[in-house]
Amino acid sequence: MNYKIAVVAGDGVGPEVMEQNILVLNEVGKKFSHTFDYTHVLGGGCAIDKFGEPLPQETIDVCKASDSVLLGAVGGWQWDTLPGDKRPERALLGLRGALGLYANLRPATLHDALKDACPLKPELVKDGVDIMVVRELTGGMYFGDKGRKQTEMGEAAYDVEQYSVKEVERITRQAFEIARKRKKHLTNVDKQNVLESSRLWRSVVLDVAKDYPDVELDHLYVDNASMQLIMRPSTFDVIVTGNIFGDILSDEASQMTGSIGMLPSASLGDGSLGMYEPVHGSAPDIAGKDIVNPIATILSGAMMLKYSFGLADEAKCIEDAVTKVLNLGYRTGDIMSDGMKKVGCKEMGRLIIENL
Ligand code: IPM
Ligand code: MG
Repeated sequence: MNYKIAVVAGDGVGPEVMEQNILVLNEVGKKFSHTFDYTHVLGGGCAIDKFGEPLPQETIDVCKASDSVLLGAVGGWQWDTLPGDKRPERALLGLRGALGLYANLRPATLHDALKDACPLKPELVKDGVDIMVVRELTGGMYFGDKGRKQTEMGEAAYDVEQYSVKEVERITRQAFEIARKRKKHLTNVDKQNVLESSRLWRSVVLDVAKDYPDVELDHLYVDNASMQLIMRPSTFDVIVTGNIFGDILSDEASQMTGSIGMLPSASLGDGSLGMYEPVHGSAPDIAGKDIVNPIATILSGAMMLKYSFGLADEAKCIEDAVTKVLNLGYRTGDIMSDGMKKVGCKEMGRLIIENL
């Protein structure tokens, strides 16, 4: 098969990790007789520099016309002082919105070989960590009405947290479907003791749950969830939550994998078009030094094969190669521990290809 892929490599370490991702994908394509055609487009800070805006229409058009989108990372200190709607992050939020990618899947899996790199005590993770955070991605306060106004306390700013029944319903269904294919345990995270939007959220989750009697459902308030995650990480399977809570909890979960450099993500909508990106950001401090960990991006490529193209064997081939390289003792700096072999970004990519 032939697949059209839009590539938004972006800023900072984005282009470096993307280069390795494409090399890996091409090798998998060769092995399984697929061809991948890449169209590189600008998004984020590099687009601001060239076109004066973070998300040019051409980038949106190319992404829409593709079978899937690969994204590296956006942002950097050069653009940190720009106003909100001109910042590189707009590219990310804008693409998610324009492509209707409302479901963000962030799997946090602790590889056996990386147990040393996990900051939690060994007894807390002895049963392994395998959590899928399903984050709502196009609603809540990241997309709600926002602005400034005068109040009796002087100038104020607001970001509105709003969720419709339909928005909650579709993300909840996605989460239940995913849980069904895993350990059949879904944890809903909200703040319904305080927020009206969470009360609606909770009632919709309970409604949808009636269609999934085979999946065990429980609920946690977000503050408690952040605590339970580090107290008993092994007991979680799938977590479903809103945009801002998911943003925060997925960073927390990422640390259990040893490094945020290990965490891939998939952003999905109702069709097969998806956007795949590492959860780590542009890390400008280490950009261009060939030291960044490319595994999160390479595993995002595997998620693309599985979720957008339905190529489960090909995806597994990449995941197995990553596990093999880790078992052989190769580590980038972020997951380095005593007695292991330290390698750079390019060498990590080459080793993964060698072990496909
Ligand atoms: C993420 C990031 C983004 C988000 C930022 C960069 C806009 O933190 O993908 O988690 O908040 O969604
Ligand atoms: Mg985040």
